Amino acid sequence: MKRIAVFTSGGDAPGMNAAIRAVVRSGIYNKAEVFGIMRGLEGMIDGDLIPLAADSVSNIIQRGGTILKTTRSPRFLTKEGMQTAAEKLQKHSIDGVIAIGGDGTFRAAEDFHQYSPIPFIGVPCTIDNDLSGTDYTIGYDTAINTVVQAVDKIRDTADSHNRLFFVEVMGNDSGQIALMSSIGVGAESLLIPESVTDMEHLLYVLDKGWNRAKSSCIIIVAEGDEEGGAYKVAEKVKSHFNQYDTRVTVLGHVQRGGNPTCMDRVNATRLGVAAVEALLAGRKQEMVGIINNQIAYTPFKNAVKQHPPIDAGLLKLTAILSN
Ligand code: F6P
Repeated sequence: MKRIAVFTSGGDAPGMNAAIRAVVRSGIYNKAEVFGIMRGLEGMIDGDLIPLAADSVSNIIQRGGTILKTTRSPRFLTKEGMQTAAEKLQKHSIDGVIAIGGDGTFRAAEDFHQYSPIPFIGVPCTIDNDLSGTDYTIGYDTAINTVVQAVDKIRDTADSHNRLFFVEVMGNDSGQIALMSSIGVGAESLLIPESVTDMEHLLYVLDKGWNRAKSSCIIIVAEGDEEGGAYKVAEKVKSHFNQYDTRVTVLGHVQRGGNPTCMDRVNATRLGVAAVEALLAGRKQEMVGIINNQIAYTPFKNAVKQHPPIDAGLLKLTAILSN
C-alpha cells in the first residue's frame, strides 16, 4: 500500500477536516504517499488529485467544511463516469482509497468495485447519523449542539412572548437530529420521518400546555416528516388550535457548519487512523465505525442497507418530560 487517495463526498459535515488530517498523518506515519482527490467523485472522474504532505493538514482539525471540497456527483453514477474514474486512479497508481462521506458515497463506492479492483474503506461523516455500523457518524454531535444552542435562544424569545415555535431541523429521511436535540432543549414534542405523526396527539399536548399556562412551546420538526416541513405543520396546527401566537424557524444549513465538537474531532481522528490501518491490513469495501467504543468494520452494502432504528426509549422521554 504505497499510494493512498482520500476524498470527501456528499453533504459536508463538521469533522471532515479532522478525518482528512488523520488519514494524511497516519498514512505518512505508515510510509505511504497520500493524495487528496478534490471535489469528491467529480474530481475522481476528472483526475483532480493533489499530493498531501503532513503540513498540508496543519491547523485544520478545528475547522468545519472540507479542505478537499465536496460534491454530489450524478456523473459518477453512470458507467462512463465510473470507467473514467477507474482509469484516473490507475493512471495515478493509487493502491487504496479512503472515502469520507455518508450513504450515497458508500453506495457509489460499492458499485464502483465492479469497475476497479482498488480497495475502498469508508469513514462515516454525515450530520444525519443514519448509517448502520457505527454508534455515531462524524458531524452529528456538532450538528445537535448547534441545534441546541439555536433553540435555547429561540426559547428565550418564545418564553418572553408566550409563543409557540415550530423549529425545522435537517434530516430528510432521518429523525436522529430531531430526537436528540428535542431531549436536549426540553421540546414539548417532535415530528420525525421514522414514526407516523399523530396530529391529534400533538394538538392534545399543545392544549394541555396551554391549560397549565405554559409560557412557551417548542415543537421540533425533522425536515423529512411526512406531514411536511415546519411551515406546513404550523399551518395545519393553526387551523385547529390557535391559542398561542405562532412562529416558525428553519435552521437549515447552519447545522452543517461550524467548528467540530471535541467528540467529533476525536471520533474523526480515531476513524481516519483506523481507515488507513484497515487498508494496510488488506481490508476492502468496508466502513469503519465505532460501536460500544470499539472500532468496527461493516461492509458498505450493510452500512447503507437500512437506517439504524430510532431508540424507542429516547423517543418516549420527550413525551414523559413535556407533561
Ligand atoms: O445528508 C446531510 C443533509 O444535510 C441532510 O440532512 C439534508 O436533507 C441534505 O443534506 C441537504 O442537502 P443539500 O446541502 O444538498 O441541500
